Amino acid sequence: MLTIALSKGKMLDLTLDVFRRAGYALGGLATESRRLVFHCPEIGMTFLVVRPTDVPTYVEYGAADVGIVGKDVLLEQDSDVYEPLDLQFGACRIAVAALKGQVSRDRLSSKIRVATKYPKITERFFNQRGVPVEIVKLYGSIELAPLVGLADRIVDLVETGNTLKAHDLVEVECIAQSTARLIVNRASLKLKYAVVTELIAKLRAVSRRLTMSRTPAPRTSSRGVRRTVRRART
Ligand code: PRP
Repeated sequence: MLTIALSKGKMLDLTLDVFRRAGYALGGLATESRRLVFHCPEIGMTFLVVRPTDVPTYVEYGAADVGIVGKDVLLEQDSDVYEPLDLQFGACRIAVAALKGQVSRDRLSSKIRVATKYPKITERFFNQRGVPVEIVKLYGSIELAPLVGLADRIVDLVETGNTLKAHDLVEVECIAQSTARLIVNRASLKLKYAVVTELIAKLRAVSRRLTMSRTPAPRTSSRGVRRTVRRART
C-alpha cells in the first residue's frame, strides 16, 4: 500500500487528472470534499489531502511515501526527500514585485522591507546580491503589503500576472521557476521500490504526453525544407 500526500488548492485538480490519465481509478476522491483521507484499495493507494506547505513534512517523516508539491515549497523548505520527477504542470514563477514607480527603490534606501510567504528564498536571493533586507512574513494576500505601506517589495508566486496588475504592481525580477514535483520518502524508495518506480514511470509518461501535446510542433520554413532537400541530393 502506498500513501500519497496531495497538495490541496489550485494544484489538486491537475494532480488528480494526471493520476487518472496514468490509469489510477481514484473512485470518490473529489476536490470539493471535506475529507482528508481517501482509501483506494483497488489500486493499493491511500491519498492524504494536506496544505501544500505540509506535504514535504508528511513525506520526510514517512507519514506519506510520496507527495506532490510545487517546487516553490521545496525551495523554501529544504526537506530531506528525493525529488525524482518534474510533473511539468502548475507552472509559475517566484518573483520580486514592487509598486509601479518604485522599481529602483533598492538604490535609494539602505534596507528594503520585503513581504513574503517565502522568507528563506527571499533572504537567500537578497543576500546573494548584497542587498540588506528586512523580511515581513505573511501567509497570504501578499500583494496588499506594498499598497498599505507594510513593505517596499514583495516576493510571491506569479502565474498569469493578473493579481499583480490588479494591484498596480510590476514584476521586478524572477527568482525561480516552479512546477509540480513528485517527492519520495528516502526509506520508502528502498522498501517499496517496485511500486514507487512503477508510479514514477506512469506519471512520467503522462506528463511527457501532456507536455508534448501543449508544445507546438517545430515549424520548418519551406525555404529550410528546400535547402535540406538540396543538401540531401548533393
Ligand atoms: C497565488 C499567489 C498570487 C497569485 C498569483 O495566490 O500568491 O497571489 O496566486 O496568480 P496570478 O499571477 O495568476 O494572478 P493564492 O491564490 O495561492 O492565494 P494567497 O494569496 O492567499 O497565497
